[in-house]
Amino acid sequence: MDTNKIILKWYDREKRDLPWREANKNIIDVYKVWISEIMLQQTTVNVVIPYFEKFIKKFPNIYVLAESKIEDVLALWAGLGYYSRARNLHKCAKNIIKNNNGVFPSQKVILLKLPGIGDYTASAICAIAYNQCEIAIDVNVKRVISRINNKHNTNNLQIKKLSQNILLCDRPGDINEAIMDLGSTICKAKEPICLICPLNKICKT
Ligand code: ADE
Repeated sequence: MDTNKIILKWYDREKRDLPWREANKNIIDVYKVWISEIMLQQTTVNVVIPYFEKFIKKFPNIYVLAESKIEDVLALWAGLGYYSRARNLHKCAKNIIKNNNGVFPSQKVILLKLPGIGDYTASAICAIAYNQCEIAIDVNVKRVISRINNKHNTNNLQIKKLSQNILLCDRPGDINEAIMDLGSTICKAKEPICLICPLNKICKT
């Protein structure tokens, strides 16, 4: 079986039930993908969950966020740290309302021009919300792709090349999230649980 089919089969069985993952992928909400990916950048999933839920309750969409006071956004962020993330979220929401009628851009080059959106977030939005063949590279993703290929000390460009084949399927967004889940639950930095890894037969490491 192809690597991407093995990954997706495992993901369909073991996917973590996280509040930003819609049960029905047809109604995937780019706003929620964006907020969650910004929160998850410097913070673990378990810490992010209650913050994400409170944030979405108070600011359910980009219009409400753009019209709110920055103090209210910062108050909700209290405890998460890296407050520039909250300031940039607010700036970015205002920018999208003003310049793009509230529609979140789907092109990576345009996303990269927005406040607080770098390569990781732009790739995550393109892949998860718009199902484009992009890979969002964080430490977990880097470790999984490096290990599968037994190529270590890789840079992001090499990881991108090594993940091209895996992404070539009809669910690149799910592939991204599956690799994130694999990296944080099985293919961990210390003591990976190779015995139960879906890729243990093809992993070159
Ligand atoms: N870490 C960063 N983004 C994530 C996501 N979408 N799902 C799980 N873990 C993540």
